[in-house]
Amino acid sequence: MAEFYAQLDCPVSVACTGAAVVDVLVRAPRTLPAPGESKIVDAISLAPGGCGINTAIGLARLGVDVSFWARLGADGAGDFLRNQLEGHRVRLDNWQQSPERTTKSAVVLVSESGERAFLRTSGGGNALSLDDFEHAEWSGIRHLHVGGCYSLRRLLDVDLAQALRLARAYGVTTSVDTVWSHDDNWDTLLPALPWVDHLLPSLAEARRLTGEQDPEAICAWLHGRGVTTVVVKLGARGAFFSTTQDRAASPAFAVPGGRVVDTTGAGDAFCAGYIAALQVGRPLPEAVRWANAWAAIAVSALGATTALHDREQLMDRLEEGVI
Ligand SMILES: Nc1ncnc2c1ncn2[C@@H]1O[C@H](COP(=O)(O)OP(=O)(O)OP(=O)(O)O)[C@@H](O)[C@H]1O
Ligand SMILES: [Mg+2]
Repeated sequence: MAEFYAQLDCPVSVACTGAAVVDVLVRAPRTLPAPGESKIVDAISLAPGGCGINTAIGLARLGVDVSFWARLGADGAGDFLRNQLEGHRVRLDNWQQSPERTTKSAVVLVSESGERAFLRTSGGGNALSLDDFEHAEWSGIRHLHVGGCYSLRRLLDVDLAQALRLARAYGVTTSVDTVWSHDDNWDTLLPALPWVDHLLPSLAEARRLTGEQDPEAICAWLHGRGVTTVVVKLGARGAFFSTTQDRAASPAFAVPGGRVVDTTGAGDAFCAGYIAALQVGRPLPEAVRWANAWAAIAVSALGATTALHDREQLMDRLEEGVI
């Protein structure tokens, strides 16, 4: 175990980008108040959110040297995200806020059982574009992660492909997490697939993207289009991972405290655990174990990253074992 700690102390630079949102988390009542009424709820809190931000924080809490790349609004929500990332020691060396942009916020209604419902606007969000990749400082970066690729509206289709291709040209490995595409633009990921080393979709997203139903067929479809490693997230059933040589299921871990409080950001924590493990040279099955363990911790508290503290916590969970 000491070897794991030592490995995580190595400075490894991961550039992370993707969805960046301010979440207003509400412990939702069974019914919403009628117009003119008010209702007491157990908790309302503000939290950093969006797949990209959540994964960056999840990596920082594991001691990984990580930067977050974004183009956001010069507004209260943008300032909040900047403060949060700085507080978590996420570097902002490819970060810009400007008045003509709007930073996205969402109201997240969390039910007693941990299920979520969202109220959100369609515009705004991280406006990072290919141009920002072309002018980026790549030295020292070993891995690039794109969290919630469909939310980067200025980096779709051939532009995303070109950005990942550029990363590869700098010797940087790449990973992409999908997100449900509310614009129904699933195919905009296809040109980028040959440049994706690790694709980490949820089962629902992978089904929609590929048209296949079971994880093996999904992985075969994606390998056929150039993805090297596919890891399909299966919620409480853990994950299924596949390369052209190997494939296996990896079960979920028991949730600390024994109760799922909020599944917000489970998939994003999963990506953070996975990337952290790969950066310290863990083999693929072990990286998927780290991913499942870090995600099981994430679902134990309200908010995407609230429960994620440090790498000792991950090591303890790995020792506790799977469900
Ligand atoms: N009930 C649970 N118990 C233990 N682990 C869980 C549970 N639910 C989810 N997880 C962990 O979280 C991971 C990601 O969950 P899920 O498959 O829902 O991904 P996702 O849809 O991308 O999540 P998100 O909605 O956060 O983006 C799972 O692979 C698993 O490791
Ligand atoms: Mg997800």
